[in-house]
Amino acid sequence: MNPNKALWEKGDFTEIAALMRQSGEAVVASLGIKIPIRVLDLGSGDGTTAVPLANLGANVTGIDIAKNLVDAGNRRAKQLGLSRLSFQEGDASNLEGVDDHSFDLTLTVFGAMFAPKPFDVAKEMVRVTKPGGRIVMGNWIPNDSTSFVSQLLKISSSFMPPPPEGFISPMTWGVDTHIIERFAQAGVPKERISMMKDTYHFISPDKNPTQLVDSFRRFYGPTMNAYEAAEKTGKVEELHQQLLQLATAQNKGTNGSTSIPATFLRVTVSL
Ligand SMILES: C[S@@+](CC[C@H](N)C(=O)[O-])C[C@H]1O[C@@H](n2cnc3c(N)ncnc32)[C@H](O)[C@@H]1O
Repeated sequence: MNPNKALWEKGDFTEIAALMRQSGEAVVASLGIKIPIRVLDLGSGDGTTAVPLANLGANVTGIDIAKNLVDAGNRRAKQLGLSRLSFQEGDASNLEGVDDHSFDLTLTVFGAMFAPKPFDVAKEMVRVTKPGGRIVMGNWIPNDSTSFVSQLLKISSSFMPPPPEGFISPMTWGVDTHIIERFAQAGVPKERISMMKDTYHFISPDKNPTQLVDSFRRFYGPTMNAYEAAEKTGKVEELHQQLLQLATAQNKGTNGSTSIPATFLRVTVSL
């Protein structure tokens, strides 16, 4: 089994995505979508950004490596009566079967950053996007204390065995020099790339930070793996306390609610 696929099929990311819907809508609202438009949502999950795009009238294809999330996305599209939105399985590192220059916009919010072979990912995104079109990426930022998920993943991986040789951290997509190098190899000069910091919010009116950490522990593949590894080394309590401390310190919600702002790097590539 492909370990990248296994990681994301392991839990149920829809439970985490439910906390991210408002920011998904805000990102889409900020894109200046003009109809007609064909959009690829890469690493789409169950449609946090794909659904609002389709609601605006875009024709949207969601591609995701996890079958359970593709199925969940297609269920949502059907329930919402969104015939211009469909999800299919695929790997951002190799979008075989997707024609060159198919999309006006390729959007990937915390999606393609998790695919292995980042140079291939950049090449594939450029290949399937039309000349004159755009690629927009949302990427977590390494070693940034306000980038909640990057901190959560940093803590999680510190309880895991070292990754296999040659593993490239997804967090490198949050570093400008790597982004420029990857798109340069795909034929895009750095003048066509802009980057800015933006904020996503993890919001739950009825979950406090302890319950939020519990959701990550039960449903988010990377955190599930960290708890399993910590179980073997007798460090579960240490891991749990570190994650609780992180979520509690970053929470702005009151009265048992959660609202955690999380900084990310928004990358726009104009082709
Ligand atoms: C953090 S989730 C984000 C999902 C969605 N974009 C959202 O904002 O709710 C990461 C997503 O990337 C997908 N993913 C990971 N590796 C992938 C790959 N190689 N190709 C396509 N999708 C991938 C996962 O299955 C998961 O749905």
